[in-house]
Amino acid sequence: MLSHLENPAAADGAFIRTATRLGPVPFVPEISLYMAEDAIELWETTERERGREGLPPPFWAFAWAGGTGVARYVLDHPELVTGRRVLDLAAGSGLVGIAAALCGAGEVLAAEIDSYAVAAIGINAEANGVAVTGLDADLLDGDGAPAEVVLAGDVFYEREMAARFLPFLERAQARGATVVVGDPGRAYLPRHRFTALAEYQVPVVADLEDASVKRTTVWRLNPGG
Ligand SMILES: C[S@@+](CC[C@H](N)C(=O)[O-])C[C@H]1O[C@@H](n2cnc3c(N)ncnc32)[C@H](O)[C@@H]1O
Repeated sequence: MLSHLENPAAADGAFIRTATRLGPVPFVPEISLYMAEDAIELWETTERERGREGLPPPFWAFAWAGGTGVARYVLDHPELVTGRRVLDLAAGSGLVGIAAALCGAGEVLAAEIDSYAVAAIGINAEANGVAVTGLDADLLDGDGAPAEVVLAGDVFYEREMAARFLPFLERAQARGATVVVGDPGRAYLPRHRFTALAEYQVPVVADLEDASVKRTTVWRLNPGG
């Protein structure tokens, strides 16, 4: 067996287990995640653990409104994913991918660019008794193949991000994938390109948002440009 020094993913997993608490996700109680109670404190602890400043916020330690909406929608409409290959893009905790796996998706890949998130995806999937493959990679220059369903929770909160995510999602859609995103009214979601599938009032962490509940829409990307 590799020691934590030789296996950074195991070390990250051990860190996450001590720095967060496993509990049911508000609005999606079928799923439990390792979540933080205090975002800023965890961010500082993470930087101390890595021995460097300027790390991204610990997005992986929370269920974001967009992902919570998509997870709720998937669990209530399992036919969207059952037996299909699913990509959870920008997966954070892996919440959306775990929902898909619980619904019998054929294979679930959860892509992230934060190695802590990839570790969180692994231990969260294990805690829910499902198989989700965490991938530490930026896939945005591709088209998500071979995924038949591309799910993304809360990815339109920054202009530069949106400018890369939308073309990726359009390429995935153009090659035949079903593309579904969850969004709580972020500034850079091009609403005219999407059709609403469901709308929820999602409880969120008030410290991270401007409210304790966010109206969250689950959208399907329309065909065509
Ligand atoms: C607001 S969080 C949403 C996490 C999760 N989908 C949810 O809704 O709970 C956005 C996530 O996007 C990830 N991210 C940003 N750019 C990315 C990229 N190019 N590829 C994959 N993940 C990315 C960040 O690391 C972060 O975890």
